[in-house]
Amino acid sequence: MPTREPQNRQFRLAARPQGLPRRSDWSFITAPVQPPGAGEVLVRVLYISLDPAMRGWMHEGKSYIPPVQIGAVMRALGLGRVVRSQSPDFREGDIVTGAFGVQDYATLPAREVHAVPPGIAPLPAFLGVLGMPGITAYFGLLEIGRPVKGETVVVSGAAGAVGAVVGQIARIAGCRAVGIAGGPEKCRYLTEELGFDAAIDRHAEDVRAALERHCPDGINIYFDNVGGPILDDCLALLALHARVVLCGAISQYNSTGPIKGPSNYISLLINRARMEGMVVFDYMHRAPEALRAIGQWIVEGRIKHREDIVEGVENFPEAFLRLFSGENFGKLVLRVTAE
Ligand SMILES: NC(=O)c1ccc[n+]([C@@H]2O[C@H](COP(=O)([O-])OP(=O)(O)OC[C@H]3O[C@@H](n4cnc5c(N)ncnc54)[C@H](OP(=O)(O)O)[C@@H]3O)[C@@H](O)[C@H]2O)c1
Repeated sequence: MPTREPQNRQFRLAARPQGLPRRSDWSFITAPVQPPGAGEVLVRVLYISLDPAMRGWMHEGKSYIPPVQIGAVMRALGLGRVVRSQSPDFREGDIVTGAFGVQDYATLPAREVHAVPPGIAPLPAFLGVLGMPGITAYFGLLEIGRPVKGETVVVSGAAGAVGAVVGQIARIAGCRAVGIAGGPEKCRYLTEELGFDAAIDRHAEDVRAALERHCPDGINIYFDNVGGPILDDCLALLALHARVVLCGAISQYNSTGPIKGPSNYISLLINRARMEGMVVFDYMHRAPEALRAIGQWIVEGRIKHREDIVEGVENFPEAFLRLFSGENFGKLVLRVTAE
């Protein structure tokens, strides 16, 4: 009997979403697996990273990276196993990361693929604490935030992929870490498991009043993952020479009207403070430096991590929306097939 060629299930962008994306904004199709050409590898995707940035990549406007074109496979970072290689740099069986897209198989140039070192953590962690979000937290806090021992660092989205690492690195740097997250379970996780000094439940508490309580000397660094009213609350409480790291603004990503800017920006003037955007791609050439440090902290038990794994590539649209409802608890990852 002839062996059946594997099929490649793919989500392709079908429409530019208005507001929260819907399943109909993608088409879910099956295509033949594309054999690798010279210098290319064929990767069986094992895990797909679900990142808030993917919402921005669906949008047509100017950004730090071109948008996904209508009809193209939805862009996503992923982790997989090389199943065929036409490159001297990779062999069958190698575990690799890259921008594989929301699909079962990716064929791409070997130079766009990175080997995953064996051993120190389960594979999905290489899409979180030991991947792009970890690198974002490391350079965003240390190079844009520049923490000084004894300072107070506030981070929003604190139980998420980037935020959880920011708070733990802040503690390692000798700072007080105050996290803002959604729900009592996440807040308990921050203080009881990750060692944050305080956690604020953005659903149950008045965020501004809680910040005043937990940051009596003001906020020295605000690491912003969410934008919107929480950014305003933090701006109102800045300390002298504070730094605001603009990492993300998830509260605004599905907005159909104009983006809500901070109304408390004059606090930057009064406090001689700095607010600066960061894009992790600018630091990718230094990724090994961040990953060495974070890896060492994991081995020493000083950084803990948590992944939230959803099964099945076919569940991509619904799983992706968990980022915007706050249902994800830790780095959100889609498992495509067993390791
Ligand atoms: N600049 C860069 O290079 C870069 C790189 C990576 C990520 N980012 C940004 O960093 C941020 C965090 O990314 P991540 O991957 O770590 O995601 P994540 O924190 O794991 O997941 C997103 C979290 O955002 C919170 N959230 C969702 N909607 C919100 C709203 N309307 N108001 C307040 N909070 C809301 C929810 O947490 P709670 O319900 O617990 O609050 C949700 O769990 C995103 O804005 C992302 O775009 C930027």
